[in-house]
Amino acid sequence: MTKVGLIGTGSICQSVHIPAYVKNPDAEIVAICDINEETLAKVGDQLNIDKAMRFTDYNKLLKVAAIDMVDVCTPNFVHMDPTIKGLNAGKHVICEKPIALNAKEGAKMAAAEKASGKKLMIAYCWRWNAGAQALKRFIDAGSMGEIYYARVQALRRRGVPSWGVFIDKEKQGGGPLIDIGCHALDLTLFLMGHPKPISASGMSVTKFGNKKGTFGAWGAWDYDKYTVEDFAAGFIRFENGATLTLESSFCANIEHDVFNTSLMGTEGGATLDPLKMYREENQTLIDVSPVMLKNVGTHEAEIFAFVDAIRTNKPSPVPGEQGLMVAKILDAIYESSEKGKEVAIK
Ligand SMILES: NC(=O)c1ccc[n+]([C@@H]2O[C@H](COP(=O)([O-])OP(=O)(O)OC[C@H]3O[C@@H](n4cnc5c(N)ncnc54)[C@H](O)[C@@H]3O)[C@@H](O)[C@H]2O)c1
Repeated sequence: MTKVGLIGTGSICQSVHIPAYVKNPDAEIVAICDINEETLAKVGDQLNIDKAMRFTDYNKLLKVAAIDMVDVCTPNFVHMDPTIKGLNAGKHVICEKPIALNAKEGAKMAAAEKASGKKLMIAYCWRWNAGAQALKRFIDAGSMGEIYYARVQALRRRGVPSWGVFIDKEKQGGGPLIDIGCHALDLTLFLMGHPKPISASGMSVTKFGNKKGTFGAWGAWDYDKYTVEDFAAGFIRFENGATLTLESSFCANIEHDVFNTSLMGTEGGATLDPLKMYREENQTLIDVSPVMLKNVGTHEAEIFAFVDAIRTNKPSPVPGEQGLMVAKILDAIYESSEKGKEVAIK
């Protein structure tokens, strides 16, 4: 049985992480930590956790020898410290996305993963979407040929989170780009086979979030405390010659939300939502659509994959290095926006 300690038992932990561990026959939640005592008591009672195994300080949870893995579901500014300390304490760690506030922090986490010999997984769950998994199989079989361009969109028309620290640049690292753009970018890099990024040109702007009276589809937020961008776009070049554009918004005057990746390859193209592939056969243009794709719970699938990787000693499904690559690209888009020119990614 893989013994699990939860750090940060807020919204994402309660809604999808805890149900996945409860369902997994090979995992057991044995300890929990949250600085919010009400949340700690509620979750502790629900899961029937021994009072001695409920902590408000994650340093104390990490001292529990019986714990095999910890699950970090704290806000972005509290990803690096518990992850590194967890790895150094000999625990495997799954950490919610994005890896951290920025690539500098992410690099320390990826280094700690290597030095500790323990597994680190960044929770980029979109990879387990059934359409994405199917498309990856087609790509790996060569059906797309050389993928030379990707268009990535994570766009909300009016979707500013009204809870947590999502509008606070210091605690979150950025706005939609780091919150939802990171998911879409990770998924696309996974599909493309993780080509090495070499440069980015980008822009990020705040046009709505700090404007009093902006309509909030998910409830009101504090306009005066809104310090992140509400739209960002980037153009990325890769070492293999491929390029990618990424657009991400919390607010934009568009018809509807768009979460999609489109790929162009020499043998075929594809869009993900819904999955459709495009190619030419026998001088005829054809579209291919899958049928009967499974409806996968992506968070559950990611947690099952990590527990399985620990139990069978497989590589981490999303190692720190891949979380770091996303962070480097996002940092470069923000830097390019500030400098008004293309910047190198090292
Ligand atoms: N994969 C996804 O689709 C997805 C979706 C939502 C959120 N997330 C990520 O999950 C993380 C948390 O988001 P959320 O929506 O659950 O936020 P939340 O605010 O609902 O929950 C965070 C919890 O962490 C606790 N916390 C804060 N500092 C702590 C500390 N030092 N020690 C222990 N606990 C502490 C808070 O009290 C709170 O209960 C973020 O990094 C976010 O990006 C991922």
